[in-house]
Amino acid sequence: MKNLAAAWPEICNFSADLALPPSRWKHDWSTHEMSAKRLHNALRWQKPKIIVETGTFEGLGTYTMAKAAQENGNGARIFTIDYDGDPDVSIPMEDWEALRGFRDENLQRAREEFPDVEITFLNGDSREILPTLFPSRLQSWDFFFQDSMHFTSGILQEWEIMKPFSHPGSVALFDDVCVDWKKLPSHCMGERDFCLHFVLSDGLVGGWSYQSTAEGRAQFWSQKR
Ligand SMILES: C[S@@+](CC[C@H](N)C(=O)[O-])C[C@H]1O[C@@H](n2cnc3c(N)ncnc32)[C@H](O)[C@@H]1O
Repeated sequence: MKNLAAAWPEICNFSADLALPPSRWKHDWSTHEMSAKRLHNALRWQKPKIIVETGTFEGLGTYTMAKAAQENGNGARIFTIDYDGDPDVSIPMEDWEALRGFRDENLQRAREEFPDVEITFLNGDSREILPTLFPSRLQSWDFFFQDSMHFTSGILQEWEIMKPFSHPGSVALFDDVCVDWKKLPSHCMGERDFCLHFVLSDGLVGGWSYQSTAEGRAQFWSQKR
């Protein structure tokens, strides 16, 4: 199998028509079309069997991954985590309840349209839920879509839980984080410095290769060598 760098041109091929369900919630946090296409292409390339997503939101990223996994035909399992809240924002409970309704409908639709993919929704804060998955339910993961918290300390809390259960070839996608070179240096400081932190630790000494893009939602991709 090609590595992430070699697969990058096919991951960034935006020609496919995904036909996703529409985003319906009042706040525009959902996946961007270009980002969703990258996600779909990456799963078609890597063919992961164990997929973990933090931040289900309306379920459109989950739907995208389930579509690709169904096409892969390898009995993939998706574990996706969210709850009625976000440590970084404060909005009324009725908004979270509306979001939950959209999420439930989209996840149900994905289960019906992509029946060969097992989709498990886990309700709770990712930092509490992830340790209940590894290692008691899952030994390792193939693809990690990190899309819950977008500030460095929150991302790192998840990453430190997940990293020990990666294997050579595992791919991690961090969504909505730098590197938008036009916004430097603010994207290398404080709670926005995740990519820099990753490059200096996991990249230089940890054996992870990486790619970044500011097209669509800025994304940082990595693969364990
Ligand atoms: C940007 S949205 C996710 C978008 C989705 N992955 C997609 O592709 O459309 C972020 C979601 O993460 C959730 N979230 C934020 N912090 C979380 C945490 N610590 N644990 C679980 N969910 C969290 C938010 O409530 C929100 O629904």
